[in-house]
Amino acid sequence: MSELNSIALKILSGGKGVLATDESTGTMTKRLNSVNIPSTLENRLLFRETLFSSESMKNCIGGVILYDETIKQNSSSNKTIPELISLSGAVTGIKVDTGAKKLALSNDETITEGLDGLRDRLKEYYDLGARFTKWRGVFKISIKNNLPSFESIKANAHALGRYSALAQEANMVPIVEPEVLMDGDHDVQTCYQVTKMVLEETFYQLSISNVKLDEIILKPNMILPGSDCNKKITNEEIAKQTLRCLKDHVPTEVPGIAFLSGGQTEIEATKNLNLINKHNDTGFIMSYSYGRALQQSALSFWSKDIKNIRGTQDTFNHRANMCSLAAQGKWSEEIEKK
Ligand code: 13P
Repeated sequence: MSELNSIALKILSGGKGVLATDESTGTMTKRLNSVNIPSTLENRLLFRETLFSSESMKNCIGGVILYDETIKQNSSSNKTIPELISLSGAVTGIKVDTGAKKLALSNDETITEGLDGLRDRLKEYYDLGARFTKWRGVFKISIKNNLPSFESIKANAHALGRYSALAQEANMVPIVEPEVLMDGDHDVQTCYQVTKMVLEETFYQLSISNVKLDEIILKPNMILPGSDCNKKITNEEIAKQTLRCLKDHVPTEVPGIAFLSGGQTEIEATKNLNLINKHNDTGFIMSYSYGRALQQSALSFWSKDIKNIRGTQDTFNHRANMCSLAAQGKWSEEIEKK
């Protein structure tokens, strides 16, 4: 077992998953403003530090993805944030893309940037304590405009390949995140077909970039109908379609899959992950790398009294425990309500 393979397994084994707190300052400002909290450097750190020092970090969180601002900050106990995270046994990760920018001559599609100078930034992040990284490619579905375009799939998958090779060269596990967005009125079959194309191109690009597939974590979307689709389907059906798509289009060497929540509610993201694990016949670890679906309730609780650290941590602990049970197929509505 290589060092990077064992880091990937450490992050996702035993019902653990990833806490994605790598919102850029722009995104974090939107999240904080939505609960009427000013987005200051201090508030962003206070909320994040509150989560990182919660009890559930020990048993539920194998890795934390940070944003550039946070990895360079110190906690109130004067430890660096990576030191605080490693106290609970979790691994520090870092978002290394610089965001999704308009794809030239495209119809409202994006290309994720950040490859220029990446080798030097990776070295800096390694020295700050990061042992895994994240890069998100974004794929938008539009039936009317025939999206995603061939160009968007090719360009974003190519960037994922080059990023992953650089991350492994720097001795860090790349989280490969090709996100097919939920926005739109497309049905579940369309999501399935687009995700299939995106996964095929992504793994093709990883292979021609010589990326070792047993040293990555895949962070995909679940197979869902678009958020405005009027053909609703059951959670069982979502789990079935997701498992089939990943079983058929992800190479078996990949050690683990950690889903993004992508705008699902906390309960939907938990319920779907639980059913995926109940029926998991793929051989892959199926866990979580949730941003909103781990933080939403905690953020809303905290916003009512930012000094109530204990209450915020209790709220976060509950959510993290529910996600961890779902990652083992052991979650139920009764446990959720207890
Ligand atoms: P969500 O779970 O909120 O989709 O965030 C995950 C993530 O890291 C997006 O890049």
